[in-house]
Amino acid sequence: MAMTPWWQRGAIYQVYPRSFADGNGDGVGDLPGLRAHLDHLSELHAEAVWLSPVFPSPMADFGYDVADYCDVDPLFGTLADLDQLIADCHGRGIRVVLDWVPNHSSDQHPWFVESRSGREHPRRDWYVWRDGAADGGPPNDWRSEFGAVGPAWNFDEGTAQWYLHSYTPQQPDLNWENPAVEAAMHDVVRFWLDRGVDGLRIDALQRLAKDPLLRSNAGSTRRHDQDWPTVHERLRAIRRVVDEYPDRMIVGEVYLLDVQRVVDHLSGGDQLHLAHNFVFLHLPWDAGAFRTVIEDFQRLAEPDAWPAWFLGNHDHSRIATRYDDGGHGPARARAVALLLTALRGTPFLYQGDELGLPDAVVPPDRVVDVDGRDPERAPLPWRPPSVAGPGAGFSTGEPWLPVVEDAEQLCVQRQAADPRSMLSLVRRLAALRAASPTLQSGGQQVLDAGPGVLAWLRTGDGERLLAAVNFAVEPRRLTGDALPGGECTVLLSTDPEWAPSSVAPRRSAVRDLTLQPSEAVLLRLPA
Ligand code: NOJ
Repeated sequence: MAMTPWWQRGAIYQVYPRSFADGNGDGVGDLPGLRAHLDHLSELHAEAVWLSPVFPSPMADFGYDVADYCDVDPLFGTLADLDQLIADCHGRGIRVVLDWVPNHSSDQHPWFVESRSGREHPRRDWYVWRDGAADGGPPNDWRSEFGAVGPAWNFDEGTAQWYLHSYTPQQPDLNWENPAVEAAMHDVVRFWLDRGVDGLRIDALQRLAKDPLLRSNAGSTRRHDQDWPTVHERLRAIRRVVDEYPDRMIVGEVYLLDVQRVVDHLSGGDQLHLAHNFVFLHLPWDAGAFRTVIEDFQRLAEPDAWPAWFLGNHDHSRIATRYDDGGHGPARARAVALLLTALRGTPFLYQGDELGLPDAVVPPDRVVDVDGRDPERAPLPWRPPSVAGPGAGFSTGEPWLPVVEDAEQLCVQRQAADPRSMLSLVRRLAALRAASPTLQSGGQQVLDAGPGVLAWLRTGDGERLLAAVNFAVEPRRLTGDALPGGECTVLLSTDPEWAPSSVAPRRSAVRDLTLQPSEAVLLRLPA
């Protein structure tokens, strides 16, 4: 049997470098800070680390406005630091995935500075320039992704034309209709893969192809400012570049709330290896809703297409807050950790979700993001503030965003010492998956297990594992004809009181098991 590829085996851990660990005391996380904390990733059995952008940037969108695709911003360190990080990670068996932002650059990128300098400049057509509408307004009705920004067009006084920006005005969209742009961006991919990077996360992939006629969205049954069919040929061309190198991976941010469109980007074996599925991330806390998306993917995707599951990143309210609903957040965050580990597919884990962090409270005078995403970007608390000071071991200086209120209890050091903590649970789950070919690559079947309960079977090599999550706020017994009979062994429960070291594993029949509110379990069934 072929070996399971690294990007299927275990979790890909997302580091948001500004908020992970600050090595030089300036209040902003950096590469030396990250290198000093790689033990944390090893303890989580992270198969790979995905770094949000570390490239030179004016930081209008905190690095997603790239001014040089092939260097490191001094705020984060140097290119040598990044090379060293890659070497350190590889020494630990951890792959490195960088964030590639192909849809737009910074307005400070030399390409845009040139493009803006004159209508006749050879780089003019590297970005999307148009005359205004007859009424003097922008060329069409496209809006920025960020509500606060408004129209997706900015008027340039110097050349008296408008340029397109799907995000902030400091992020002009590159013109992917121009083959020179495509070739230049392919060279960026080669630059990083040549340096030993194992994969790329493609930012805003759905924006890479737009209606070349730039027609307005109004009055149309479909959007013209994204998800144009040409995206697939562009993606295949990117994949061909990636396939020049052995064992590399691309994961796309495919921000389309339609499972069919997500799987379309995984089809044919010549597009993405993995896709972030935002339908999943937007689910309400409901067993039936989760079941539908899991089965939709299974049904719609080609058998070789591999799922990826994630419920958090740096753009969305934290899991523990989003699913809190009157105090259930911590227990549900634990259940989510089991769900992501035991589903067939690659789990993505956003830094801090292994601690069950809630959103931080950000007072109005400390708000820095244009789109309200500061709360989920708060720095990681490493040590109790009572010992390490207000920077909570993240920084010796003033953190760029406030740390979460309960850093004292939620910090890594405290949780690592407590076998009942979220961190200890996540580490146990990761160890289980690392040791289990069935969890890594076995088959999967969703079962009927009674109302409010999501249950699924994982099978492989004579082994059968059953995972179940109680979404209800009251205890629920596992019921249903589909459930396999016989005695089972509880490999793990998310109930904080359950500890494998203190008691012998519970043995009982599957149908005798009662799950506590928000409890999730992983069981071994007789072969
Ligand atoms: C998606 C990124 O995750 C987000 O942080 C960013 O603002 C946009 N793409 C634009 O690059």
